[in-house]
Amino acid sequence: MNVNIEKTDAPLYISKVSELNQGKDLKIYVVTFGCQQNEADSEKIRGLAQAMGYTVTDKSEDADLIILNTCAIREHAEVKALSMLGRLKNLKLDKPEMLIGLAGCMAGEEHNIVRIKRDFKYVDFTLEPNMLDRLPYLIYSALADGERTFIHGLDRGDITEGMPHVRQSKHRAWVSIMYGCNNFCSYCIVPYVRGRERSRSMYDILAECRELVNGGCREITLLGQNVNSYNAECDFADLVKAIAELEGDFKIKFMTSHPKDVSDKLIDVMSKTPKVAAHFHLPLQSGSDKILAAMNRTYSKAGFLSTVEKLRRANPEISLSTDIIVGFPGESEEDFLDTLDVLSRVRFDTVYSFIYSPRNGTPAAVMENQVDKDLKSVRMSRLLELQDKISLDCALKYENKVLRILIDESEEKGGKCILKGRADNNKLVIIEGDKNAVGSYQSVKIVRAQAFNMYGKIINDKGI
Ligand code: 5AD
Ligand code: SF4
Repeated sequence: MNVNIEKTDAPLYISKVSELNQGKDLKIYVVTFGCQQNEADSEKIRGLAQAMGYTVTDKSEDADLIILNTCAIREHAEVKALSMLGRLKNLKLDKPEMLIGLAGCMAGEEHNIVRIKRDFKYVDFTLEPNMLDRLPYLIYSALADGERTFIHGLDRGDITEGMPHVRQSKHRAWVSIMYGCNNFCSYCIVPYVRGRERSRSMYDILAECRELVNGGCREITLLGQNVNSYNAECDFADLVKAIAELEGDFKIKFMTSHPKDVSDKLIDVMSKTPKVAAHFHLPLQSGSDKILAAMNRTYSKAGFLSTVEKLRRANPEISLSTDIIVGFPGESEEDFLDTLDVLSRVRFDTVYSFIYSPRNGTPAAVMENQVDKDLKSVRMSRLLELQDKISLDCALKYENKVLRILIDESEEKGGKCILKGRADNNKLVIIEGDKNAVGSYQSVKIVRAQAFNMYGKIINDKGI
């Protein structure tokens, strides 16, 4: 069931807070940790705050409202957020009327809420990811009644449409198409903090994309924990096709996909639809069938390789990236070699590799055969050594090729104007040019490629 924002209490509390804030020059500072989904949520948090009279600042010391939008996927992300929260204590002492809130995946975990209530008394509220439309209520409670509020476990399993956004970029946009995850990979906290899969209506998504493209947006990234299991009035392949049919010069990217759900239909739509970027992020996690089973990934090494083959058969130029977890419980040398074997065979452009981090409440955290910390680090270094060579080799293939690059930003450096854009595979492309090119697509010849960046030159219609 979809809920329109008008049907939640957000508009009521937006107007109550606006009244309280009237005549004051108030600012919000949002810090985002973690993935693109959080980036997209932060745009909504800023949008709601703006509707309540706050302007956006990027300086914590100027802020009257600070929200940390947190990530819980690995311990490191939680430690970073908590240490930043600790540093905010002095700011609050200097400015007691300032409000501080903790949003995002950490706010969906019971043990973190207990900790915030007990050890971080200067935090005014927590807000779990599925309840963003409760933000105006939380702010009202803090401002009007001085109440600390901790909203948790109220996941209504629905979607709030019509939330205002303050978008970071005019020409690139995130569009969430589904929320939550049903897969319960045994290492992953996401299904516990973001709830079950819910897909937005195709009509709402199309309306948002149409508005973006009409407003000059040139790249839309469709977001979801598992976009391939999108399931509303149509499936994911049909949704991509319908968005591509909107008029305008723009590209479609998407993330993330589960290898088990990559359909032949999607591969076909991608290869026939020039508006879809020729890139696929396909998280492998491990190359060992034994570990994949323990992770509850429901595909095998051979199945994954066959999906890659299909993607490459449909478009030999497609670039691929993946996620790998090193040191999952029970990972033997042989299992690890299986992972390296898949990396050598597939030759991904980019690999995002993570040392396994036990997450409270997930099945893998209590598995007995945890891998030794030092061994995990050694394996990680071995993986990086192999992949750095492969990434460089893949990058070199782009030298002398002409790519269509969306220019994101310009910077004056040593009397020159340096432009930065991203290729289909999201690699940074650095180009000398004119700042008026920002927000446009340019034909760029790659003159030098490195594993993570490429350097290019804008060429004209004649290719010079
Ligand atoms: N430890 C390490 N990496 C993890 N990921 C998810 N959960 C964990 C964990 N507990 C990684 C996976 C996922 C990516 C977003 O984060 O590789 O694809
Ligand atoms: Fe986590 Fe697996 Fe869902 Fe991805 S598919 S969010 S790794 S449970």
